[in-house]
Amino acid sequence: MTREPAETPAADAVAPIVTESSTGVRILVLANQKGGVAKTTTTLNLGVAFSEMGYRVLLIDLDPQGNLTMSQGLNPDSIERSMFDVLVHRVPLSDIIHHREVDLAVSSIDLAGAELALAAMMGRERALEKAFVEVRDKYDIILVDTPPSLGLLTINAFVAATGVIVPVQCEYLSLRGLVQLENTLAMVRENLNPRVAVEGIVATMFDGRTLHAREAIEILEENFGDLVYKTRIRKTIRYAEAPVKGSSVLKYDPTGSAAEAYRDLAKEIHKKEEARKKAAGHGA
Ligand SMILES: Nc1ncnc2c1ncn2[C@@H]1O[C@H](COP(=O)(O)OP(=O)(O)OP(=O)(O)O)[C@@H](O)[C@H]1O
Ligand SMILES: [Mg+2]
Repeated sequence: MTREPAETPAADAVAPIVTESSTGVRILVLANQKGGVAKTTTTLNLGVAFSEMGYRVLLIDLDPQGNLTMSQGLNPDSIERSMFDVLVHRVPLSDIIHHREVDLAVSSIDLAGAELALAAMMGRERALEKAFVEVRDKYDIILVDTPPSLGLLTINAFVAATGVIVPVQCEYLSLRGLVQLENTLAMVRENLNPRVAVEGIVATMFDGRTLHAREAIEILEENFGDLVYKTRIRKTIRYAEAPVKGSSVLKYDPTGSAAEAYRDLAKEIHKKEEARKKAAGHGA
């Protein structure tokens, strides 16, 4: 993943270009290398919820599948310039932002070739971080949707991140997958971005009627304690219906419980971050 020697101290790593303290922008990466755990659904609905709270929100579709792009009614197959051009050809991020429910930097099928193209480039892990410099004063929160892998695209997201949010599917809980994700983050911390860490774990597709789902939550809380958000995203067809209409569930069914769940999650994430900042301030 990185060719820097393991003994390189974190302090020697090139200082992050976009720092929380210097700009205030929060860059939250939705990641889990397991497929179909609701990364994209969470990116969109959480983003719209933060926007309702008055934040300036930018979503980044970093997945060659382009599901986030599609979920805002855009066709990744007919998009001319995308995150591929930003990462590989250094096209300004603002050139590929579309203004939908919230601002969205789009994906296209080209992005599938980005890992290979980046691999041969100097600074290949920092391409996304560099791209953010141009827009960091325009947004309060940037949410990054990642593909179901821990490849170079996801690593780019971790390098640029102020925090990582991990959606996990209650039905198919994979603790081994979470350990693998944490190991990757530890490597990124050591070599590329000392501040990146899992900020929270969100249980998705939760069906409280089943013992299985309740047990999954118990196991998560035993292993990860306070990292597990209290807000649970219940299983409902609403989340699959909304993207077909090219909209978030907050727009599709504004007063429904599916929309409310992501508003609750946005509030909980916000509260937790405020509490953490306060604690860090007192500690200084
Ligand atoms: N809470 C939920 N209840 C029911 N279905 C859901 C829920 N959240 C997401 N889904 C549906 O599950 C499927 C997978 O969700 P999503 O695409 O968000 O996952 P993902 O982690 O982004 O997948 P991938 O790894 O392929 O990118 C989608 O069809 C989505 O509509
Ligand atoms: Mg996805």
